[in-house]
Amino acid sequence: MRGKLWFSVWVLFLWGSSFGRFVVEKNSLKVTSPESLKGTHECAIGNFGVPQYGGTMVGIVSYPKANRKACKSFDDFDISFKSKPGGFPTFLLLDRGDCYFTEKAWNAQNAGAAAILVADDKVENLITMDTPEQYSGGESYLQNITIPSALISKSFGDDLKKALENGDMVNVNLDWRESLPHPDERVEYEFWTNSNDECGPKCDSQIEFVKGFKGAAQVMEKKGYTQFTPHYITWYCPEPFIPSKQCKSQCINNGRYCAPDPEQDFTRGYEGRDVVIQNLHQVCVFKVANESGKPWLWWDYVTDFSIRCPMKEKKYTKECAKEVIQSLGIDLEKINKCVGDPDANEENPVLKAEQDAQIGKDSRGDVTILPTLVINNRQYRGKLDKGAVLKAICAGFQETTEPAVCLSEEIETNECLENNGGCWEDEAANITACRDTFRGRVCECPIVQGVKFVGDGYTHCKASGSGRCEINNGGCWKKTKDGKTYSACVDDGCKCPPGFKGDGVKTCEDVDECKEKIACQCSACKCKNTWGGYDCSCSGDLLYMQEHDACISKKATTEVGWSFLWVIFFGLAVAGIGAYVVYKYRIRSYMDSEIRAIMAQYMPLDNQGEAANHVLHGDI
Ligand SMILES: *[C@@H]1O[C@H](CO)[C@@H](O)[C@H](O)[C@H]1NC(C)=O
Ligand SMILES: *[C@@H]1O[C@H](CO)[C@@H](O)[C@H](O)[C@H]1NC(C)=O
Ligand SMILES: *[C@@H]1O[C@H](CO)[C@@H](O)[C@H](O)[C@H]1NC(C)=O
Repeated sequence: MRGKLWFSVWVLFLWGSSFGRFVVEKNSLKVTSPESLKGTHECAIGNFGVPQYGGTMVGIVSYPKANRKACKSFDDFDISFKSKPGGFPTFLLLDRGDCYFTEKAWNAQNAGAAAILVADDKVENLITMDTPEQYSGGESYLQNITIPSALISKSFGDDLKKALENGDMVNVNLDWRESLPHPDERVEYEFWTNSNDECGPKCDSQIEFVKGFKGAAQVMEKKGYTQFTPHYITWYCPEPFIPSKQCKSQCINNGRYCAPDPEQDFTRGYEGRDVVIQNLHQVCVFKVANESGKPWLWWDYVTDFSIRCPMKEKKYTKECAKEVIQSLGIDLEKINKCVGDPDANEENPVLKAEQDAQIGKDSRGDVTILPTLVINNRQYRGKLDKGAVLKAICAGFQETTEPAVCLSEEIETNECLENNGGCWEDEAANITACRDTFRGRVCECPIVQGVKFVGDGYTHCKASGSGRCEINNGGCWKKTKDGKTYSACVDDGCKCPPGFKGDGVKTCEDVDECKEKIACQCSACKCKNTWGGYDCSCSGDLLYMQEHDACISKKATTEVGWSFLWVIFFGLAVAGIGAYVVYKYRIRSYMDSEIRAIMAQYMPLDNQGEAANHVLHGDI
């Protein structure tokens, strides 16, 4: 009877404050084959396991022949999904129902699956798969689930099953790169938590997370990379129930701020109002510490409080909290002022602000799952584990602005170790395009010794620019034989040198110039192929002239040459003599006429008339 009444009040609390705008956080699932299913589908990120925020994961879908709900171990059915070296990881398609989602994930993980896709069993909007609320014994595996999980719609699940039945290989790519906004160089994140330490697996994982994450959180906060704010959910007691025993034991400030009884039993242990008071202390510690410029003290307070003041040891008290506050050097008076009087019928501004913050804004839905991490105003889904959360926070930084902690080995993936991450590599030269980062492996053509490689990173990368031939011969063919070296590396690519043929990258084969009748083809020629060229000799006394690809007689060449010179010499001599004779003759005849003209002035000559005649004749 008591339990029932409590339950109804509890339900009213939820109805009273939650406006039901719960946002299902999604990632995308891209089917790359078969053609009929090609495209991008939405799926809901499960709130356990390790989603690869900022990264992607490729695999092939498999639908088991038996144990399709994965509520039993696959060992019982002799089924294994371990991928062989070089094989694609298996994404196990499972049916919803019969057991916890976490149980399915655990069984699938143990059978070697790399991720699970749970097909919904009814037509509805996507829901968020969560961990069990209560211990039912044997959930110690919860923290050990590391594979990501996603819920897909019934219709998409049916399509996948049909394709698999047809024998199609279904290739998919799970993509979390846009699951979180990453607009700038600072990540704002919130942790919606609870000081209650007796609520089963959820509370345990929550405090384990705070302890484990403290170091990284404080480093990022101190350096200004992040702005962290803790939050606490409280509910209010509906008006008619305020005087009830339930509300009195669960609420403070006259029913304004309530929390459920930690053991869900009003007769023993701590009450809901104790939880609210401790939550209020934690909010106030943050507020006061933040005002003094040391917001990271919250992490110290919460871990110290959980260690020093656990419910189990009956130390979950104001006095214990006071000791922890003082040991951290936080101003106790300011804390007391912030906490105020829990019995007063008045609002507490700090808790009022918390209730207002609980209602979703923009892309963030109402916070209804505790604990919840909100990164860049989006709810984080997945296991609360240091590495997984760090990966998600790192994915919230604008690319290339992530702090060093994001690139530390701790959260680096090591996908390149296996099958080189599916990226391009030149094994011989030890050059790879695979690089592990917290965003998962990336296939990017590298820069080696200042030489940039270009290509798609998956199937090809080629050195580019000057100096490219220095590194691994520019990825081109090169061979040394009999003391001779030939290379296919040229300025703008790979091209077999003269005397070779091939792609210039892997192969250049010697061309047999003799057989292929390229050279040395005259009848007197004798051809012998060599590596990278050929030798040609001529029979008898002939000489091979490579530029004419012909054999020429050695003698003939000589005689023709000399006789030709003789002809020229002789010709020149004749011309010279001829010219001399003409010259002599002309000089002589000129002298004759001069002498005659002079003599004619002094003595009459017999043939004067002849001369005058000649002149007259010339004047007319
Ligand atoms: C979970 O992991 C821990 C530590 O790695 C191990 O001790 C424990 O046995 C594991 N639990 C299960 C159920 O496998
Ligand atoms: C914490 O302090 C910073 C800077 O002083 C301020 O911007 C921020 O709003 C404060 N956070 C809270 C929750 O008061
Ligand atoms: C390949 O290069 C990496 C780093 O560049 C080095 O650690 C590794 O030892 C090299 N392996 C071989 C086989 O040379």
